[in-house]
Amino acid sequence: MSGYPIYLDYNATTPCDPQVVEAMLPFFSTHFGNAASKSHAHGWYAEEAVVMAREDIASLIGASPNEIIFTSGATESINLAMRGLAEVQPSPHGHIITVATEHKAVLDVCEHLRSKGMDVTVLPVNGAGHVDLDQLRDEIRPDTLMIAAMYANNETGLFHPIREISQISREAGVLFFCDANQAVGKIPVNARSEGIDMMAFSAHKMYGPKGAGVLYIGKRDKKIDLAPQIFGGGHERKLRSGTLNVPGIVGMGKAALICRDRMADESVRLAGLRDRLRNSLLNIDGVRLNGDENNMLAHVANLCFDINGGDRLLKMISRMVSVSNGSACSSVTQAPSHVLKAMGLTDMQALSSIRFSLGRFTSEAEIDIVTSAVCDAIARLR
Ligand SMILES: Cc1ncc(COP(=O)(O)O)c(C=O)c1O
Repeated sequence: MSGYPIYLDYNATTPCDPQVVEAMLPFFSTHFGNAASKSHAHGWYAEEAVVMAREDIASLIGASPNEIIFTSGATESINLAMRGLAEVQPSPHGHIITVATEHKAVLDVCEHLRSKGMDVTVLPVNGAGHVDLDQLRDEIRPDTLMIAAMYANNETGLFHPIREISQISREAGVLFFCDANQAVGKIPVNARSEGIDMMAFSAHKMYGPKGAGVLYIGKRDKKIDLAPQIFGGGHERKLRSGTLNVPGIVGMGKAALICRDRMADESVRLAGLRDRLRNSLLNIDGVRLNGDENNMLAHVANLCFDINGGDRLLKMISRMVSVSNGSACSSVTQAPSHVLKAMGLTDMQALSSIRFSLGRFTSEAEIDIVTSAVCDAIARLR
């Protein structure tokens, strides 16, 4: 992983762990069978591999294998959870509560549902990105179907108070859907004990391949009915038809096992590197942290450099380091981040903020090189 540019955009996507690639390779060629082929050994072998991966992924999030639905990634899982729930309602009316700092995958689905007659409340956040839990409680109505709140923010790394939100939703008899794409594999997540009813995540955020993801649908308390969004052969309990992506699923299973084994050590190591980077850059005049340093993912630092023409900063350092100033999924627009704007930053402050997200292959030497590249660029811009 060494060389230039240095990769500090692990929240956008992670490289596949070499062990993941190794586990996947036979499933492209030797074991290429269709996991739904019930009549021969090629199919049985593929199915067996999917069964094992399902168990390993379920165990990473404290779930049972029959609570795992394989999809192509978190975006699809989010669509299945939210649109699927809306579409089984007897009338198009109902109410969903979400938060202004959610990923566009959630906010855009909310917009779509609004256009179909659903009422949507988007809760504001304070300057650190926190949601007001009393306000959340107050917004719940008799027709509220779901609270959609993410586990950890992709831009700032900030955690939502998941147990409190799940308690509020439970007391009100409302479903709690959590986009946990940035949390699973990085910190211990236990969907069942944390009272999450549905949860979305992708393999490519946890050192697995792109094109594989999961929707967890909890089975403990109540049966959750969803309308499928893709019809066909009835795969995945009729919720997500289509031939399973066996290599991707095997890779996601292996990635889950590696994350389980390495998570504790990795987050301590990355917190050390992140603090080294963050503290050096915070020494520069006028630089401040976006978020709440006591309540965030260990590998993320989102810093506001508060300089005019701050978008030039990214360009100036881009030959040395790959970082971003927003979500990869909306960065094509070059618009200031909706997350930072919801936290009260001006357009200029949002555009001159950078998200540094570290990962498994980040070294101390890389952090020092990036620190001096950013310091140099700021000095030139000022
Ligand atoms: C928090 C969060 N949710 C959802 C998504 C969408 O995930 P995917 O692109 O894997 O479908 C992302 C991707 O950046 C994300 O960070």
